[in-house]
Amino acid sequence: MQTPVQSTDRTEAVADKQPHFAIKINRSLLAPWFILIAILPAALSYLRMMTCFQTQIKRGCDMILTTDRLILRPWEDTDAELLYEYAKDERIGPVAGWPVHTSVKNSLEIIRTVLSAPGTFAVCLKEDGKAIGSIGLMVGEQSNIGLPDTEAEIGYWIGVPFWGQGLIPEGVAEVIRYAFEDLHLENLWCGYFEGNDKSRRVQEKCGFTYQYTNTDAEWVKMMDRRTEHISKLTREDWSRRVKTIRDMD
Ligand SMILES: CC(C)(COP(=O)(O)OP(=O)(O)OC[C@H]1O[C@@H](n2cnc3c(N)ncnc32)[C@H](O)[C@@H]1OP(=O)(O)O)[C@@H](O)C(=O)NCCC(=O)NCCS
Repeated sequence: MQTPVQSTDRTEAVADKQPHFAIKINRSLLAPWFILIAILPAALSYLRMMTCFQTQIKRGCDMILTTDRLILRPWEDTDAELLYEYAKDERIGPVAGWPVHTSVKNSLEIIRTVLSAPGTFAVCLKEDGKAIGSIGLMVGEQSNIGLPDTEAEIGYWIGVPFWGQGLIPEGVAEVIRYAFEDLHLENLWCGYFEGNDKSRRVQEKCGFTYQYTNTDAEWVKMMDRRTEHISKLTREDWSRRVKTIRDMD
C-alpha cells in the first residue's frame, strides 16, 4: 500500500520531468518546420521560375521571329507539300538523323507529330513566306542529349536549293537570341554527325565550341550507329560575342 509521502514524491518527480519531456517533444517536432520555413522561399521561387519558363516555352508555339531575310514561324498543315519537296531528298534527313519523307501525307504527319513541338520554327524566305527549312529548339528532356530544363539543343536543316547562302546561320543566330534573351536559358548545345562539315561550319559561325564526342552510339531513329560531335554556347560567351559584333558596327 502506498503512503501519501510516496505519492507526493512521485507527483513531484513527474512534474519535475514534464517540462523537459515537453521541450524535447517540441524540439523534435519543430526541427522539420524550421527546415521547411528555411527552404520554402527558395522552393517557391524555383517553382515560380519553372512555371513562368514553361508558359514562355508554350507561348513559343505561336512565336514568330524575323531576321533580315527570314521569317521563323510555326509549321502549318499547308506546308506539307513543300516540306515533302525538300525532305524527300537523301541529302537532308539522313545526315541530320531522320529518315527521308516518303509522301506528302507522311510530311503532313511529321508536321503534326514532330514539327508542331514548341520551339520548332519553319524557316521561310521573307519574299514569299514559303517554308524552305526548319530550326528546332529542344528544351530539357525534349533534347537528344539529356539536358536540364534551363538548357536546350538546336537542330536545323534547309532545302538543297538554298544551301550556301548563310540562311541557317542567320536563322540560328535569331533563335539563339530568343533562347537567351526571351526564354532566359543558360546554355545551348548543338550536335553534328561525323563527316557533316556543313553543319560543323554552321555551329562555328554561330559561336558554338566543341565539347565532347559520342563515339559509335546507337541512333534509334535511323536504326544505325553514329559518332556525334557535341558543341556548346553559354549565355556569357554569347553576350560577349554580341557585344563584340555591336562594337565593330
Ligand atoms: C548544314 C546546313 C543546315 C547548312 O545550311 P546553310 O544555310 O547552307 O549554311 P551556310 O550557307 O552557312 O553553309 C555552311 C557550309 O556548308 C557548305 N556548303 C554551302 N553550300 C554548299 C553546297 N552547295 N554544297 C556543298 N556544301 C556547301 C560550306 O562548307 C559552308 O561553309 P562556308 O560558308 O564556311 O563555306 C545545310 O547544309 C543542310 O540542311 N544540310 C543537311 C541537313 C543537316 O546537315 N542538318 C544539320 C544536322 S546537325
